[in-house]
Amino acid sequence: MSATILNGKAFAGRLQERVAEHVAGLKTQGVVPGLAVVLVGEDPASEIYVRNKGIATKAAGMNSYEHKMPAETSEADLLAKVEELNADPAVHGILVQLPLPKHIDDTKVINAIRPEKDVDGFHILNVGRLATGQAAMVSCTPLGCLLLLRDHLGSLSGLEAVVIGRSNIVGKPMAQLLLGESCTVTIAHSRTKDLAGVVRRADIVVAAVGRPEMVPGDWIKPGATVIDVGINRIPAPEKGEGKTRIVGDVAFDSASQVAGAITPVPGGVGPLTIACLLANTVTAACRAHG
Ligand code: GUN
Repeated sequence: MSATILNGKAFAGRLQERVAEHVAGLKTQGVVPGLAVVLVGEDPASEIYVRNKGIATKAAGMNSYEHKMPAETSEADLLAKVEELNADPAVHGILVQLPLPKHIDDTKVINAIRPEKDVDGFHILNVGRLATGQAAMVSCTPLGCLLLLRDHLGSLSGLEAVVIGRSNIVGKPMAQLLLGESCTVTIAHSRTKDLAGVVRRADIVVAAVGRPEMVPGDWIKPGATVIDVGINRIPAPEKGEGKTRIVGDVAFDSASQVAGAITPVPGGVGPLTIACLLANTVTAACRAHG
């Protein structure tokens, strides 16, 4: 059996079209949603993410404000920047790119963002709202995974879901969202005993650990839906000396022989994160002009 490939890129494209339509509607009411992204330092991967976010924001017809700050920026100066953006009525969403330099307390910075502008869904109030089933800004990657799962499976009610990884950005909010869909949810992690056994009983597997191809095909229950959040760069000597390639947390070739559906890496979950960021920004703009 060969799995259906869940084309996150195409799905994200459709989502972005819907966002752009919504933005066009808001513009007729004189509202242009604005997203501010703050990047501290020169991490090359973060620079690429931030650039892509800016391109997508403008492509959807929204205003993009990029604030690049040097790596030596003090915590106080970053907090002052957040305050400035909190007070700016043209800015509906604020995203401070992580990771931040070590001398800055990221929790303090995240919780300084006004919760209604927290399009990352990382603010403690949004985390609490999600956990208690109230309307919240939801972290973009898990939100994208949920939309893709719903699109493919329809109702998730009663399904056995395993989330591998317990990060605040993906694992924990993903588990909350699946619980909200009435799945039976297990969060597995590096200390889980018999990870293979836990994964084998899952109808839905979300892998978000950041370890290249750690989930082999023979852990997957036949017909399961597999969402691979991992983006891992590994050496690819077959492409030439010093070359690399990107793989997920799931061994795609073997898993796709067993799963009912699976996201590829790249082209699966990655594009959905930005689409959900744009959607969250539009939501924030609508609420601000309610
Ligand atoms: N760094 C990697 N992913 C993310 C994300 O979703 N949001 C922010 N703010 N930083 C990140």
